[in-house]
Amino acid sequence: HRHLLGIEALRPDEITVLLDLADSYAALNRQPDKHADALAGLTQINMFFENSTRTQASFEIAGKRLGADVMNMAMQASSVKKGETLIDTALTLNAMHPDLLVVRHPHSGAVDLLAQKVNCAVLNAGDGRHEHPTQALLDALTIRRARGRLHRLSVAICGDIAHSRVARSNIMLLGKMENRIRLIGPPTLMPAGISEFGVEVFEDMKEGLKDVDVVMMLRLQKERMDGGFIPSEREYYHRYGLDEEKLAFAKPDAIVMHPGPMNRGVEIDGTLADDINRSVIQDQVEMGVAVRMAAMDLLARNLRLTRTEAV
Ligand code: CP
Repeated sequence: HRHLLGIEALRPDEITVLLDLADSYAALNRQPDKHADALAGLTQINMFFENSTRTQASFEIAGKRLGADVMNMAMQASSVKKGETLIDTALTLNAMHPDLLVVRHPHSGAVDLLAQKVNCAVLNAGDGRHEHPTQALLDALTIRRARGRLHRLSVAICGDIAHSRVARSNIMLLGKMENRIRLIGPPTLMPAGISEFGVEVFEDMKEGLKDVDVVMMLRLQKERMDGGFIPSEREYYHRYGLDEEKLAFAKPDAIVMHPGPMNRGVEIDGTLADDINRSVIQDQVEMGVAVRMAAMDLLARNLRLTRTEAV
């Protein structure tokens, strides 16, 4: 592949290759010297048009550990504020010959559009409610390491499914790897026609969590609710917040996940989120760096191959 725009375009064997490579980078990241040279000589630009802590920091660390020259565009201080469009901004940066562009944008499809205009590899760091492929890949690696496999597992994704690019990418990835997916949440936060995607839908949390191997919690994405239905946080926590009592319906060794940022006391109990016997939330963050190293390494190999053939 030239770009990583979504999980939709990936085959199961390609996902496995990427996760295997990420596993080796996870081992490197625990060494005192964490450096490799897969991106030596290459320029990586991170363009985040929407806030981020985990994704931006881990893409920057991943690029630096692999030897790239990494530049973080401060979008709030850029000429976007003077009315420059996304495409003009991308073409301007493209003229500086970057090799990897990492882009997050509030509009679904914006990153795909941008990828058509530039001649470097583009990685989608989250576009609107469309896709967040590296999040789904890091979730997959976390599950594979915690549960020993990434197939025939029962995975519950809970909460605001309708506005979540994380849910969308995870549904595609976990489906491709032949897992059973249960979506749990209020009907107002469930996308129309979702059951056609081979998932089971539950309104009741305890019913939905019954005997699952993995519980994936999601934040209420209020910034994408367009003034529509926003549940009261108290009521929401009562019905859909994950606590010990609700988790007891899952398998005794079920793992608890959350992509972050997390709202403690809204979708998850803070003590449970910190319980290292159940929660793998910090492992997800750790795997984020490894997965992004692997994704950029594979795209850079393809980039170098294409350039060699063109000479
Ligand atoms: N999970 C995730 O995308 O977090 P950030 O918004 O902090 O990058």
